[in-house]
Parts: sequence; structure tokens; C-alpha cells
Amino acid sequence: MCGIVGYTGPRECVPILLEGLRRLEYRGYDSAGIAVVNGDGLTVLKDAGKIDQLQDLVDKDPPTGHHGIAHTRWATHGEPNQINAHPHTDTRGHFAVVHNGIIENCDSLRETLKAKGYEFVSDTDTEVLAHLIQEYWDGSLEKAVASALRLVTGAYGIAVISDLAPGIIVGARKGSPLLVGVGDGEFFVASDVSAILAHTRHVVYLGDEEMAILSPQGYRTQTLNEIPVNREIQEVTWELDQIEKGGFPHFMLKEIHEQPKAIRNAIRGRLVDDQAEARLGGLNLAGDELRRFDRIILTACGTSWHAAMIGEYMLEEYLRVPVEVEYASEFRYRSPVLDSRSLVIVLSQSGETADTLAAVKEAKRRGARVLGICNVVGSSIARETDGGVYIHAGPEIGVASTKAFTGQVAVLALLTMYLGRWRGLSDEVARELIAGLRAIPEQMERILADGPAIAEIAQLYAKHDNFLYLGRGFNFPVALEGALKLKEISYIHAEGYPAAEMKHGPIALIDENMPVVFLCTRDKAYEKVLSNMAEVRARRGRIIAVATEDDATIASRADHVIRIPHTLDPLVPLLSVVPLQLLAYHIAVARGCHVDQPRNLAKSVTVE
Ligand code: AGP
Repeated sequence: MCGIVGYTGPRECVPILLEGLRRLEYRGYDSAGIAVVNGDGLTVLKDAGKIDQLQDLVDKDPPTGHHGIAHTRWATHGEPNQINAHPHTDTRGHFAVVHNGIIENCDSLRETLKAKGYEFVSDTDTEVLAHLIQEYWDGSLEKAVASALRLVTGAYGIAVISDLAPGIIVGARKGSPLLVGVGDGEFFVASDVSAILAHTRHVVYLGDEEMAILSPQGYRTQTLNEIPVNREIQEVTWELDQIEKGGFPHFMLKEIHEQPKAIRNAIRGRLVDDQAEARLGGLNLAGDELRRFDRIILTACGTSWHAAMIGEYMLEEYLRVPVEVEYASEFRYRSPVLDSRSLVIVLSQSGETADTLAAVKEAKRRGARVLGICNVVGSSIARETDGGVYIHAGPEIGVASTKAFTGQVAVLALLTMYLGRWRGLSDEVARELIAGLRAIPEQMERILADGPAIAEIAQLYAKHDNFLYLGRGFNFPVALEGALKLKEISYIHAEGYPAAEMKHGPIALIDENMPVVFLCTRDKAYEKVLSNMAEVRARRGRIIAVATEDDATIASRADHVIRIPHTLDPLVPLLSVVPLQLLAYHIAVARGCHVDQPRNLAKSVTVE
């Protein structure tokens, strides 16, 4: 949730750290800080608020030095104020620590340290680490950090510096991501590759309970018990312009517009036309194993959970295998019934969501095979699962997920085809799906060209306080997703429902002040959804309908109609969600909201 960046090398570190923080700001943005070592000792500057506030502080009296760490925070323990901002230091001010994650036993550690005379100034769990490192200091920073971490339960990605160990950064991780950036005579530590991509694309991902010791001369990786670990240097394939706005006012709008490309990337090289099947290399499942599964469980959080629901509908329709969808946060604690005949598929854009990662571990513990559908290459979930499929949507910076959602749905369609071939899916149906998927990018481009019309509708409704989103079948998860998008970035209360459920309760809310977004595409449920629309109209609700291009009936039934091209029912979500993303975006902009960094949220939720 928070972001970490550190630098050691020949250059002035402060500009590098601040630039890194700006690239990480989407990860957490309620306070930020920086620690730098130079000949005068350790300097820490930090404040509540965004990076701009930290920049102001730095500009007043810029610290110099070639060795530093920095952090942007999403508060867990303690409110977001100056004192709780990272870095945290020990009582004597020699050790500075930045930390992502949660130290679960911080209360008992704090009491023990207080009894020894350590004074605490913040409400954070992180501060215990700074004091523990002081407690264990005997001339070696790596040993002090390792000793401190051996006492910690919980999750951490940390970076530590000290004026007693010039040039050295010690990084370590368990549960929260951390990587080393390998430059030319300079080294970086970061929670996310985007922080350092401007300087190097060579990275080493640390494993759980591993440490990295960096100096201007090189780096080493080892376990907390000082056993050397040889981790391969990987080359990042992302380009810098992929993590920049590229002329768009917000990352979210850029990423909405990147969806045609994201779908092309997700399906590239994976559709085999002449054999009418999908080719997915990373599943690590043999054909006889695929036939053995008698149940599929999809688990995820938030937007990824909505994609999972669409996956449930697809897989059941084409595979005729029972499929369940579970919130990852519930799955872990619900004692799920799983065995070796269960296939668990987890979905996560970031690959770092703590609840989803915990679900992976729980499913493996109970003997299930676990596949992952992730966007971030090398992420924790990608590494913990038995196999999986990357969606290749490219970096998603906007906190509100857009292109990762449609990428996940496209991959679920591929997976349906892949698994279907082992379970009797006919050539004819597979060919239809292939043709449908291939057409999606161009169809999305046509919807995106309609952006200005959607922006006009958004202007009309930007002052409303409540919205309902209704859809049936494959469009029901899209209704949920549309409502979530609006809530997240505009702070308008919005709910998604299966359209027919409306009359079992939510209909009481309908009056002339309630905008209702109907997903009313020409599919199996079309006529029924028209009836649900009539029920809203009869109560003077305002209707925005997402409908199919050639639908001549709809104009007389709705106040506003947004048209999308025709596609197969299971692929409709790939198109019908796009106008809802744009609607949410333009409403949020009209309300003056901070679209890319909505309040209280962070891009990847690495705490439970
Ligand atoms: C999406 O707009 C949200 N920000 C959020 O619901 C997100 O989808 C959820 O936290 C899961 O994230 P993940 O896909 O990275 O696991």
C-alpha cells in the first residue's frame, strides 16, 4: 500500500528519491518522508500530505548525500500526520527505517522495548523496528536488521540506512514486495519497479524472508539467517512512457483508452485458429489433470472479484463444471472444503493483495491446485501459485482498475477455451469465441470514440448523491463494477444489483432524483431488462441505458442511451464496462475529485 525507494551510488540521492516517490504516489499518498546520510549524520524530513508537501520541505533546506531512503504512506497504524510519517528513527537518531506492511506483534515488542528505556514518539508499528535495530547494533547493519526481523511477526518490506554504516542500505521482505535495482555503479531498492525504471531496468526480486545488502560497490542477497541466496537479475520489459500520462489528464483516462491494446496483448499468440483453441504456456497442468478437476473456485478482491464472477458464468456455461466465486478475504477464514480435485483460480492485478495471497496459501495447504491470473510479472501471487496466466495489460497506475479488469476477463475467456478443449467444448463454439475476442479491440475503439457524448451525460448527473446500476446475466458483474468505479473515484454512493432483484427492495429508492444505469444489451435477458426499465420509468427514475448499436426500441425507454457494438454474450462485459468507466471518470472530474488518487484508497492492498 505504501511505496519505498532507496538509492546508494555516486549521484545526489534526493532528486532520485523524490522522483521515485512521485512514481510510487499511487501506492499511498497520505504522508511522505525521506532520510539521507552524509558526513554530518542522518537527516530525516517528513510530513503529512502528498509528495508536493515533502518537496516544499526539501526545497527550504535541501539535504545533500549519496545514500538515502524514502517512503510514501497509506496509514494503517496511527493517523496520517508528520510524526507517524516514515522514515522512523531510533532514540539516538542513527537508524532510519521505511516499512510497508504490518508488524502484528508490535504491541508486545513496544512494551519490551519501553521496559528497556526506549522512548516511542509515534503511533506506528514501524517505530519498534528502528528501536530493535538500535538494540541489536554491534557494528553490522545487516546483522542488526536480521536480528530485529527474526522477532517480528507480520508482513514487511523494509529499507534501512544508518550514518554508522555509510553507503549501505539493507532491504528485507516478507509478504510485502521489495526489489533491488542494479545500475551501473549504483544500486536501488524499491517496492515497485516504476520507482526506478528511469534509472535501470535490471531488477532482482527478493523472496519472502530474504534480505539485500546494497553499497555503491555491489549488492548481496541472503536469508534472514545469513544463508546466501542467488537470485537472477531480470530485465523489465515496461517502457517509461507506460508509466507516464502520455498527454492524458489522468492515468485512469489513459488506461481506459489503453484497453484495446491491452486486449490485443492479452490474446496475442494465445489463439490458435486452425485448431480452434487457446494456447496458455504457464499453467503447468497436464491434460489428465485438467480432466480430473470436479470443481473450480475463483477467488479475488474488488474489481478482480467482479472479473471472477464473469469467469464463473463463462466457465459454467461452457465447461459444465460447478464454479464458485469467493471473496479472498472470506475464503481464508471460512474453512473451505477443498481437495486435490479442486482447481482454485485467483485473480489479482497487482499480484500483491494480502487477502488474495493468503487465499493462495490456504488453498495450497488444503491440497488444491492453484492458478493465478495476474498483471504484474514476478509479483508474489504469480510466484506462489502453481501456474497461471499473465494478462499483459502493462502497468496500471490509476487506483481505479480499468484495463486490468478487461484484461482479466479476456484471459478468463482464453482459459475457458483452454479448459473447454479438455472437456468437450465444440470446435464451432471455440471458433465463435476466437472470432469474438479478436473483434473486441476494434469494438472498444468505437466505444472510446463516443467519449465526448458520455462526458456530456456525466455533466448532467455529477451533482447526484446516489446511483443504481442494474444488469442481468453477464452484465450483472458489470453493474457491480460500474457502481464500484463510481464510488471509488467520485465518492457518490452507488449500488449494483441484478436488474430483477430491484423489485425486492431497491425499488423503494426510485424517484426522479435517482439515476439508474441499465445494462440492456441484446442478449438472453434483453426483454426482461426492458421490463425492469419500465418499472423504473413508472416511478420517474432517470435512466441511462448501455445498449447494443442496432437497438431501435431502447431510445423510447431511456433518458440517455450509450451504444456499444454487438458481441457474444460472454464477451459483452468487455464492451459494456467501458462506458461505465468513462461515466465514472467524467463524473469524478466534474466533481473536482482526485481521480488517480482517491481518498482513503491505495493501489495495492498489502494488508489484511
Ligand atoms: C479497483 O478499482 C480497486 N481499486 C480494488 O477493488 C482492487 O481491484 C482490489 O483491491 C484488488 O486488487 P488486485 O487486483 O491488485 O488484487
